[in-house]
Amino acid sequence: MCGIIGVAAQKGNVVPLIIGGLKRLEYRGYDSAGIAVVSGSTVSVRKGAGKIEHVVVAKGFEELNGSTGIGHTRWATHGAPNDINAHPHTDCTGSIAVVHNGIIKNYAELKEELVARGHRFSSETDTEVIAHLIEEELRRQGSFRHAFQEAVKRLEGSFAIAVLYSGEPDRIYFAKKDSPLVVGLGRGANFLASDIPAFLEHTRRVIVLRDGEAGWITSQEVHIENVYTGESVDVPGRVRTISWSPSMAAKGGYPHFMLKEIHEQPRALRDTFYGLSSDESLAKAAELLAGAERIYVTAAGTSFHAGLLFDYYMLRLAGRTVRAFIASEYEWFKGVPGRGDVLLAISQSGETMDTLKAVRLFKEHGARVIALSNVYESAIPRESGIAIYTRAGPEIGVAASKTFLTQALALLLLAGHAARISGRITRDEMAEIMSAASKANRLAQRAISVSEGVVRTVAKWFSKKGNAYILSRGIGVPIAMEGALKVKEISYIHAEAYPAGESKHGPIALIEPGFPVFFLLVDQHLKELKGNVMEMKARGATVVAVGPPRSEILSESDIHIPAPEAPPLLEPFTLTPPLQLLAYYTAVSLGYNPDKPRNLAKTVTVE
Ligand code: F6R
Repeated sequence: MCGIIGVAAQKGNVVPLIIGGLKRLEYRGYDSAGIAVVSGSTVSVRKGAGKIEHVVVAKGFEELNGSTGIGHTRWATHGAPNDINAHPHTDCTGSIAVVHNGIIKNYAELKEELVARGHRFSSETDTEVIAHLIEEELRRQGSFRHAFQEAVKRLEGSFAIAVLYSGEPDRIYFAKKDSPLVVGLGRGANFLASDIPAFLEHTRRVIVLRDGEAGWITSQEVHIENVYTGESVDVPGRVRTISWSPSMAAKGGYPHFMLKEIHEQPRALRDTFYGLSSDESLAKAAELLAGAERIYVTAAGTSFHAGLLFDYYMLRLAGRTVRAFIASEYEWFKGVPGRGDVLLAISQSGETMDTLKAVRLFKEHGARVIALSNVYESAIPRESGIAIYTRAGPEIGVAASKTFLTQALALLLLAGHAARISGRITRDEMAEIMSAASKANRLAQRAISVSEGVVRTVAKWFSKKGNAYILSRGIGVPIAMEGALKVKEISYIHAEAYPAGESKHGPIALIEPGFPVFFLLVDQHLKELKGNVMEMKARGATVVAVGPPRSEILSESDIHIPAPEAPPLLEPFTLTPPLQLLAYYTAVSLGYNPDKPRNLAKTVTVE
């Protein structure tokens, strides 16, 4: 939902750094882009609709020059994606430029008030009120710092803001509430960005800002305070050096981030396994689950599918039922949770607003919250009592891939430990789970190697289809749901996942000759799956079997995408990669860019 960047350098031109940063943030939104720099005592702005690569050239970003600047890549909320609504937005004098990620809920009232005071607006965005509000406060306050603070205090909603002011040409002011913002401390330059990969090439020393924090950066200085209380933040005490390397955020020779991230899964799984094997937070979370009265799990999109795997693992291993719910439906649970209950909130970004709202609701009711995220100190982990982290590294492709399987692995370990603590499994059984989990990386590696060649060919055939079903049973159902989401998101082919047994209760009505039906071959349910395959065949479907070579199913299938054998709880690691690759190669066959699917943003910080 929009990416912002700011760079304050001691000398030189920051424009190439801002453009580079915007390209790395493009996964957050890509319908328009813009940049503002201070040169001398003038703020210059260039912006326009379209993908960054195009706008940079069309609007002559590189003609600008300055050592302090801000940039923005947009995912439209208020106002169509066009040149005028693109950020940065300026005040009436053109001396204040603002970039913003989030939604200003009270912008209509503020705009009315400012218009009555004579301010002229040029865009339809909520963001533009911020520039005029600061301008208005500046008339009263005299000091820009105070004007900025007063303006921020009047904003309701979510925001990560970076502001340039011609009167203080070496500074970038910032403020953050409910939208992510990170400070990067470099040599001779400091950075602000929505996400670390934007400046990872230049520094690994970061401060993850918290809600209510505001301040400024120059090339030499970082000042942070709580805008509502005025309390200063101990900046050195908040600096963390992160372990991500710049190559993790680069394509590394792959044509797309998504393909690189699919291939990175074995590494990501290995790091997650070893990172969590001796993780105290995981142990504490397992203890909490073991003692919980009721257990809930919530998330959105891919993370929700990982939540369904957790449901499965908890039932199988710990004998506990888990109520899984889509985060945006959190209001169902108003008045429901109690003090003995535990909510597990899963979010790779840690910033998804729906999931954050669910966390807040459960906390208000006194429930305990565990977060599982891939981004250290992001909003959801910070607001949860216990935070567990996957070690997938930065995921740039908009469609989640490696983060799904690392979540699945973390959740298997969590459920295993909860089962052990509650005495449901023996020490030896736990050792078996750990030993199996330690092989998840190798299983994913084999799944990629054995399926990729076949999938490339199948994708050419599949790219001509308009619809598909992906069916399975048991643990295969969440995997099928994840596969269908990937296919929809990046290849724009309508794919639906169902429990195979459910298909005859309605979905089968759509089957006609040549309709593609993918079956995920999970070992425990082969007999029933065979029955479902026969039902589909009898109606002319083209059956694609995905899994190990099970002759009883392959004899009835038209196409086979191979996957290796896996122990029952580890089938997500062998059956997911072929589906991710199918979505990827289908999108590529159709000429789409899988890294930037239309209408989507990676981090959804609006409700
Ligand atoms: C799917 C995808 C989205 C996210 C969802 C939740 O490929 O990327 O469906 O899974 O927006 O995001 P997080 O996990 O960051 O809360």
